[in-house]
Amino acid sequence: MTPVRVLAVASEVYPIIKTGGLADVAGALPIALKAHGVEMRTLMPGYPETMRLLAGAEEIRRWPDYFGGPGRLLAGSHDGLDLFVLDVPHLYARPGNPYVTPDGVDWPDNGVRFAALSRIAADIGHGLVPAFVPDIVHAHDWQAGLTPAYLHYDNRPRPGTVMTIHNMAYQGKFAPELIGSIGLPREASFDVHGLEYFGGISFLKAGLQLADRITTVSPTYAHEIQSDEGGMGLGGLLRERADVLSGILNGIDISVWNPQTDPHIAYRFSSEELSFRSANKAALQQRLGLDPRPDALVLGVISRLSWQKGLDLLLEAMPIVLGEGMQLALLGSGDADLQDRYQSAARAYPGRIAAVIGYDEALAHLIQAGSDALLVPSRFEPCGLTQLCALRYGAVPIVSRVGGLADTVSEPATGFTFGPVSSENLSAALRRASFAFHDKAAWRQLQRTGLATDVSWRHRAGEYAALYRDLTASRRA
Ligand code: ADP
Ligand code: GLC
Repeated sequence: MTPVRVLAVASEVYPIIKTGGLADVAGALPIALKAHGVEMRTLMPGYPETMRLLAGAEEIRRWPDYFGGPGRLLAGSHDGLDLFVLDVPHLYARPGNPYVTPDGVDWPDNGVRFAALSRIAADIGHGLVPAFVPDIVHAHDWQAGLTPAYLHYDNRPRPGTVMTIHNMAYQGKFAPELIGSIGLPREASFDVHGLEYFGGISFLKAGLQLADRITTVSPTYAHEIQSDEGGMGLGGLLRERADVLSGILNGIDISVWNPQTDPHIAYRFSSEELSFRSANKAALQQRLGLDPRPDALVLGVISRLSWQKGLDLLLEAMPIVLGEGMQLALLGSGDADLQDRYQSAARAYPGRIAAVIGYDEALAHLIQAGSDALLVPSRFEPCGLTQLCALRYGAVPIVSRVGGLADTVSEPATGFTFGPVSSENLSAALRRASFAFHDKAAWRQLQRTGLATDVSWRHRAGEYAALYRDLTASRRA
């Protein structure tokens, strides 16, 4: 196996900083790739959390003026991850969520913040760090989308480039004037084969246009985004580039998500000890103030509260949840309106509906271990990770038949699926689940088949390794 060197570029990396599944993927993939002969280093911004956790990192470059203030490039490692950190305090030394202000609006200089990240990625691609000259630069989502653009417009020998789409809904759109302050040629902003996007510029579009290969996080989503609706404005471009676009399913880190060793759950269990889940169910009910009823089907939800996730449909389906005697354990944060509506539902039905608004890693694990079913009613879902965790924890997934949900859950084998996405179809799926729940043997079989599903990165990382090798070989030829 020829070793391959890859620089990954990501704006969030678990366990350092996370707002969603991108961080999980960026944190788990490099470790899984080691077994496939891929040496990956990940470039990320020096947020306060990064700087704290990488306090011992080595400075390898320093600039008095990097995009308007002093900057440094550091190299270090954390929890098995080899990292480059771009420490530019005037861009990244801001607490909390990496993208939005404490009031929840995008930082006004996000364009510059993430252009700066991509600029340094391209420089590392050109050999800025002699000890790590990558064969491939792999950019994740719009925040890294300018990386292939800088490499393209630099017009020098360059490494191969891969652009991965985790979510088509976030495209990094900015006014064309931004081009003047990020060191790309002005013509790139009105080049339809460059950054130009409906009169403005888009970082994601740039990456999709200029990367050698494009991947997304499930085969079904790779198909969906080539339509006008699923492509959200970029369907035409993706149809044109279909020959270099592929879908590789996400896995989960099965050492972080392991019911046999999980420190966050009340009672650890193996796949042969599924009856011990009842202790976790009782602990979950107690923690959330749900009635201590072993016979009630507990529905778990762990989610960002956004239009994508379809959780407004669950509010519409609430008569079924209540009518069938189910309980709801929801953990999420996001849209203020959805947060309020779930909190009022919880107040209206104490003991039956619980809504924890916020981000709570430990509670997410307890919900996976203690709920009977895990619900993901998304309108679109590039891959989705919570249904994979659910399969591993014996919580039966109930999901809409879109994107990666369609690729990872199937009815009647491992869960319940519905489509087209509507509250009526969701209600019908909830009724089917409720019916099946009362047949203990059938339910146990669903759990067992789920537990036997491979949700790890092992094989999926191999698909990335094969892609990197193929791209490297084709560029040498
Ligand atoms: P997305 O990236 O679209 O938000 P995914 O299902 O791919 O959706 O990934 C979400 C990740 O974030 C999962 O690891 C999930 O457990 C976690 N997560 C989402 N919301 C919360 C929350 N409120 N508290 C803790 N973890 C959460
Ligand atoms: C995005 C998607 C989600 C996917 C995750 C990781 O946030 O919304 O479906 O699992 O990225 O790829």
